[in-house]
This record gives sequence, structure tokens and C-alpha cells, in this order.
Amino acid sequence: MVNAQELTILWYNISMAIERLVEPTAAENDKEEERIEISLRPLSFAEYIGQEHLKNNLKLAIDAVKKRADGSTLDHVLLYGPPGLGKTTMAGVIAHELSASLRVTSGPAIERAGDLASILTNLKDGDVLFIDEIHRLRRAVEEVLYSAMEDYKLDIVIGKGPAARSVRLDLPHFTVIGATTRTGSLAGPLRDRFGIIHRLEYYKESEIEQIIMRTAKILGTTIRPDATELLATRSRLTPRIANRLFKRVRDYADVNGDGIIDTKIASDALALMEIDFLGLDPADRNMLRLMWENYGDRPVGLTTIAALTGDEATTIEDFYEPYLLQLGLLARTPKGRVVTEKGRRHLDKSGIL
Ligand code: ADE
Repeated sequence: MVNAQELTILWYNISMAIERLVEPTAAENDKEEERIEISLRPLSFAEYIGQEHLKNNLKLAIDAVKKRADGSTLDHVLLYGPPGLGKTTMAGVIAHELSASLRVTSGPAIERAGDLASILTNLKDGDVLFIDEIHRLRRAVEEVLYSAMEDYKLDIVIGKGPAARSVRLDLPHFTVIGATTRTGSLAGPLRDRFGIIHRLEYYKESEIEQIIMRTAKILGTTIRPDATELLATRSRLTPRIANRLFKRVRDYADVNGDGIIDTKIASDALALMEIDFLGLDPADRNMLRLMWENYGDRPVGLTTIAALTGDEATTIEDFYEPYLLQLGLLARTPKGRVVTEKGRRHLDKSGIL
């Protein structure tokens, strides 16, 4: 049997590419996509576009640690917000700015307290441990993490029954960067152990344009300014989506043109992908349509929506809903989710109703 430790633990030196070990995404199923995605990740604050408030706060905290130079480490950092906004990327940047090694794991990948113990005992002073989806840590694992984060101690029980005894091991001084799409589902005691807690915000359209221009430059593709603007309006204010759309449009330009992305190429490619002018794809529109056709402007529970679309409730909550709420097409009420008047008009305009 393969050791869980061998499966879940990989060391990353921040000067090398950072890989995500969690949650299969389209990129992880495709080596070439994955290679491109990694090459696009900014390594430093200077390269990282947007999230100015977060960057300013982190820069200050990191500068203070560096200036003190007394062996103290950066406070543990909790980053939360919708997926695709750059939590993993920011963890890489933090490690890079601290000249530290980054180790990446995730809540669901740490199955037992023993898995976490072996991760922690393999850390070195100053290392950064990134735990994605930290809200999915098991209770027993979470409890080991408390004392590790609080006073860099690992409490382990040796033996069984009356002969069992508890041993406290010293751990290196490390920084945890936790990432979650929901702070609400994080246990209070765990949340309290983070000194720095920040929400990643949706990006401004102008920032998405800069990210697209940066991507085009790295990939050596020419994109016209009005095509950049068009792609930015369809990217759901999310860098990961902007980069994905960019790559698909670039394929389209290579096949149907001379490789240059202009407005015609971009809008034809977007039409082929069925991405509408707000950046919604067929799955988003289908969810709104099903809600409207079955419930009109009445609230619908999350599990009912999941049953209507055939998705997991968590997929709806984490992936579909945040942007629809941000746009005001959907609203949350104590009784459930409702399609707003704006949502209904969008379906109407899209020719769906
Ligand atoms: N690529 C993905 N996200 C980025 C960001 N915030 N800044 C620069 N490049 C990015």
C-alpha cells in the first residue's frame, strides 16, 4: 500500500514551479495546460496584479518580520473568498517574499492526525505550509494543528491503554497559510489561531485586462486592446477564468486566423464557447432558468437547486453562486435563493425565456 505521506506530501522550493495537489481541475488533467498555468503565476508582489489592500497588509507584515530578523516568523495567514481569485498564487508569493520554502497540501488530503504529524515534523524553521480547503480538515487533524500553530508543539500519544503516555515534541517555527472558500465553516478555535485574516475580492475589470496582457506577453501572443477589453468583460472578474478564456481564444486564433487576437476572433470564439456578455456559461444560465421556471421569484433551497441541476450543493455554493450574487442576478434570503428581477431580465435578453 502506498503511504499516505508519500501521496500527499511534496516539497516545493519556491524558486521552482508551485503545484497544487488538490481538487482535480481542468488544468491538472492536462499536463500542457498545467505547465502553462504554472508559468503564468506571478512570483512576487511586484508581479501580482490587484488585491492591493491584501498586498499592502501582507507587505507590511513581511517587512516587519524581515526587519526584526530575530528568528520570529510571519503570523499564520487565512485567505478566504471565491475560487480562482489567487489564494494559492498569493501563498506562493508570500513564501517567495519571505525567501522561504513552500509546502502545499489540502484539508481533504490530510486523512489522519498522523499524516499531519509527519508533515509538521518534516518542516524547517521559517517554512510556509499552505493548506488549501482548510475548512475540510477532519476534527482529529484540526486538534493536532491547534497546538502546532499556537506554540509549535506536537502532542502525540504513545502506546495504548493504561500504558499510553503523552509526549510533547518541539516543532520548527513555521507559518500556516490556510485557504478556504467559506470562513463560516471554519471552527472558531482554528480561525482564532490566524493572526492575519483576509478576503480576496473580485478583481476590477481594468486589473483583469492587465492580467490578460501579461498572459499574452508571457505566451507570446498578440492581442488587440479592444479584444483584451472584451475578454475582460467575460472573465467573471476572476484571473483563472481570464487565463482559461485567453487560452481557448488563442487556440481559435491559431486555427481560424493568423494567431492574432482581435475583436472578431475573440467574439467568435466566445460565441462558440457560449459565454454571454456577462461571462455566464450555459450551466449558469441553465441554473437560473430552472429556478425561474419552477419557482419564479420565490425562494428555493440549496438542495432543491442541486436536485434541479444535478450538481452537488457545494458546487453550486462555491462555484456558481458567488458570481451570480456579485452580479445581482441571484439573491440569498433566509428562506433560500431567489432569481432577482435583473436575473429574469438577463434570461429574457439571452432569449431563454
Ligand atoms: N495570473 C493570475 N492571477 C494573477 C495576478 N493576480 N496577477 C498577475 N498575474 C496573474
